[in-house]
Amino acid sequence: MKMNGSVFVLGRDPDISLSELERLFGDSHLIKVIGRQLCLIDIETKNINLSKIGGSIKVAELITSDTNFNNDALLEKILVDTLENLTKNASSKVNLGISVFDSKLSLKKLNTIKIAIKNHFKNQGQSIRLIPNNSMSLTSAQTLHNNLHKKNNIELLLDISKDGLYIAKVTDVQDIESYSYRDRLRPKRDTRVGMLPPKLAQIMLNLAAGNSQSFKKPDQILVLDPFCGTGVVLQEAALMSYKINGTDLSQKMIDYTQDNLRWIKNRYNLDVNTEGVLEQGDAKSHRWASKPDIVVSEIYLGPPITQKASIEMINKYSADCRTILEKFLNNLARQTDLGTRLCLAIPAWRYNNNFIRLTTVDRLPQLGYNQIKFKSINYRPLIYHRQGQFVARELLVLEKI
Ligand SMILES: C[S@@+](CC[C@H](N)C(=O)[O-])C[C@H]1O[C@@H](n2cnc3c(N)ncnc32)[C@H](O)[C@@H]1O
Repeated sequence: MKMNGSVFVLGRDPDISLSELERLFGDSHLIKVIGRQLCLIDIETKNINLSKIGGSIKVAELITSDTNFNNDALLEKILVDTLENLTKNASSKVNLGISVFDSKLSLKKLNTIKIAIKNHFKNQGQSIRLIPNNSMSLTSAQTLHNNLHKKNNIELLLDISKDGLYIAKVTDVQDIESYSYRDRLRPKRDTRVGMLPPKLAQIMLNLAAGNSQSFKKPDQILVLDPFCGTGVVLQEAALMSYKINGTDLSQKMIDYTQDNLRWIKNRYNLDVNTEGVLEQGDAKSHRWASKPDIVVSEIYLGPPITQKASIEMINKYSADCRTILEKFLNNLARQTDLGTRLCLAIPAWRYNNNFIRLTTVDRLPQLGYNQIKFKSINYRPLIYHRQGQFVARELLVLEKI
């Protein structure tokens, strides 16, 4: 069956990736979550700019979907037919990658199918270079370095689950090198204030801004980060062409952010004002000179923890962070318009296989905010956590009421 749409490959935290897509495109466009790692959206790939989406690692154009598919023996033929169509006008050698998600197919069987495909095309005079699968799906680096997303080459995404068969052709992949460059090579870094990954900053900006870009250009939207630290959120906001404003309790952090902003502006030749946009200030009491349109911030997360803390220590850190967060929310509520959107990363502590979350999450309406939750993930909390870390981040998406 022919059906148009884009298939997104979700990142390491599928709940966070899905929420970002739901926020950007609206749940009416989000047609279906396919298995655990793919999401189908009824928007054409040519209208999607993956470099501005932090949570998805690839995007592909849907080619085939068959919800009644139940005969694996037909797979090889279906793939050959699909590829014959796609290589109709191909000139020289074609690089071919296949990434398989949710399927009972083994790696061995996948390799057998790939070789059969190569031989089929060889007999027809079309040369195909197969990209080896070390696992069922190819990494972003493999896609990027073999140019599989570019014209003439092909990466097929394949999902064969209880939902049927889906085949899509990759059209873009996340630029992992640019993320790593922005993260590692900016002039000022400070491990003590935590290192917000640029991808997560981008996700947070999208969670806050949502689809507001459909009626306002980014350069008409002012983003405030009141705990700006070394400036990752503001750096990413500048790259996405937002106007920016930042404050931090520490003058040293303000200086760091200033250097990082000048660096990103030069490196990426940005047309964004980075001068006079920062100020030292306590988020609990500061009066910001301009009213922000959106507020995106990783608040104070408590001291860095490198080994398991006692429950007494966690309670103490949690009380400190809660006080700062609630006073800040109170202060901000007095200075923003109704409907102003926020995305905040707040701490949650890993303890006995569970997360101890800030109780503020249960008091948001009293503080003047409505929490936005996401249908595509059954309204679950958004927790960003890496194995081995004791402090996780909970992402709160709020709207001033
Ligand atoms: C977790 S860090 C933010 C890190 C930042 N996202 C980055 O990428 O570098 C929290 C920041 O909050 C600042 N801070 C702590 N208490 C504050 C307060 N009351 N008002 C404003 N900033 C505060 C700290 O100086 C620190 O830079």
